[in-house]
Amino acid sequence: LVLATKTQSLTTMASDEENLGNLKHQLAKLFEASLKTTVPNEQDLEPLIAACTGKFGDYQCNNAMSVWPRIKGKALPFRGPQAVGQAIKTNLPPSEMIESCSVAGPGFVNVMLSSGWMAKIILKMLNDGIATWAPRLSIKRAVVDFSSPNIAKEMHVGHLRSTILGDTISRMLEFSNVVVLRRNHVGDWGTQFGMLIEFLFEKFPNIEDVNEAAIGDLQAFYKESKQRFDSDADFKERAQRAVVLLQGGEAKYRQAWAQICGISRNEFDRVYQRLGVKLEEKGESFYNPFISSTIEELADKGLVKESQGARVIFIEGINIPLIIVKSDGGYNYASTDLAALRYRLNEEKADWIIYITDVGQQQHFDMVFKAAKLAGWLPAEDGKYPKVSHVGFGVVLGDDGKRFRTRSTEVVRLVDLLDEAKTRSKAALIERGKGEEWTEKELEETAQAIGYGAVKYADLKNNRLTSYTFSFDQMLNDKGNTAVYLLYAHARICSIIRKSGKDIDELKRTGFLVLSHADERALGLHLLRFAEVVEEACTNLLPSVLCEYLYNLSENFSKFYSNCQVVGSAEETSRLLLCEATATVMRKCFDLLGIEPVYKI
Ligand code: ARG
Repeated sequence: LVLATKTQSLTTMASDEENLGNLKHQLAKLFEASLKTTVPNEQDLEPLIAACTGKFGDYQCNNAMSVWPRIKGKALPFRGPQAVGQAIKTNLPPSEMIESCSVAGPGFVNVMLSSGWMAKIILKMLNDGIATWAPRLSIKRAVVDFSSPNIAKEMHVGHLRSTILGDTISRMLEFSNVVVLRRNHVGDWGTQFGMLIEFLFEKFPNIEDVNEAAIGDLQAFYKESKQRFDSDADFKERAQRAVVLLQGGEAKYRQAWAQICGISRNEFDRVYQRLGVKLEEKGESFYNPFISSTIEELADKGLVKESQGARVIFIEGINIPLIIVKSDGGYNYASTDLAALRYRLNEEKADWIIYITDVGQQQHFDMVFKAAKLAGWLPAEDGKYPKVSHVGFGVVLGDDGKRFRTRSTEVVRLVDLLDEAKTRSKAALIERGKGEEWTEKELEETAQAIGYGAVKYADLKNNRLTSYTFSFDQMLNDKGNTAVYLLYAHARICSIIRKSGKDIDELKRTGFLVLSHADERALGLHLLRFAEVVEEACTNLLPSVLCEYLYNLSENFSKFYSNCQVVGSAEETSRLLLCEATATVMRKCFDLLGIEPVYKI
């Protein structure tokens, strides 16, 4: 038996609204009513519902054990937590969703769901669409700050992680009907621009000559200018002056800056296009005009102190202060983030702001968030809105267990990774004989779906905080918990339905679904857990939870398929519908993970 944890839920228990897809919520409503009857004097009892792991039920209510100490000794007729459990069971309002209930151990109330009801709900989803199983969150608008590479610097594997995680988190929230402002907080305003601009002027005395082809590789350009900066004092001085002129709005400098940003932007966009990721750029420069008023406000509130020539905010419990104006008077990463946070709250009216970067930036965000609380921009208490979350992730490792790099110790280029994944999956398809069977277009599309899907899934399936080893061999394996295995599994289900020769839409409208075999029921129950899993993945910002669900769904299906004959059996219609429901839920999972499904293999 598992103990229900009282997770901080984002969900409103929409009272009258039907929320058929979410079993936990449905049950919570029933148990809430029972608790009110059982212990009428105990206010604010939140029903604690959890999925069962054992055989005694599908779900359980765990309130009896925590209610008991509260009512002990009061004039109530109970003798112990078990009696409380019995009463909770007895007072449960009748419902067609429950087959039977039992009380176990110290007072767990186990619920066995009605198979007939489960079948009905699954069929209803098939007809009304998977969107009816979307979680209902209490927030309306979220800002997801992700990807956010730096201009002219390498967009590396860390940015790939941020991009993939951010896209999935955005997709899950969007599916839950939250308006998501997908923000690319690109580093387009650092001091590095002084040297880049100066170097640009030096290389192209005639500004009209500047274009992507002429500059070539922007990373190489960055390196060259950095070398100049480090070795030539005269150049360095000019570069430093250039920063001041740029920030002062000097036209010639602004133009050069815009040109450099433009080239970088095209490069980033090519990666986003390949990954199918949508993002709106609001880089650091966007917030620049709002920084001085932000700092003024913080100063007015008495939060800003002088320290070694810099202006800082001291935060209790942290031994270094948050520098918001450097000793040379310039602004920094933190000043920009404070201005951006204020903008997102006041102008964009976000009730949840999510930042996705490597764990190395955790302290930075911790300090920015605490400063915002001191300023009263955010509620001091946790669990209140608007709220902010930093989604940290670990590093990607190479085979050698060190930070993932290529042999020349250069950072790995994203596009090369995607290319290689695609090339390898294409080779595997050709090895399976698909070269003769399919058109070139089919081969290309499938190779891309599998290759890119493999890279994404390998990243998402890990708990984001752990570092993981990047391995093409592992991620492109067609066995085990990989995108390849899952995409093949989906394609096989589609082919079962195709080969039956039945019109599945017709069956949805006229057919019946019955969950009589134990493996049919287990698969049905897993399907029905979809909504609560997506909700958990959203609430805790953990896409890995959804991956685990998807993998288990596939395992449940395999078990069903090996023990229950589908085509040609007496239960054919019902079982085809169960196949279709599985494929539908799998496709929604792929969609939320940003993976293109494959229909045949
Ligand atoms: N540009 C930063 C980096 O590459 C990430 C920015 C994250 N977002 C933010 N609001 N600070 O590390």
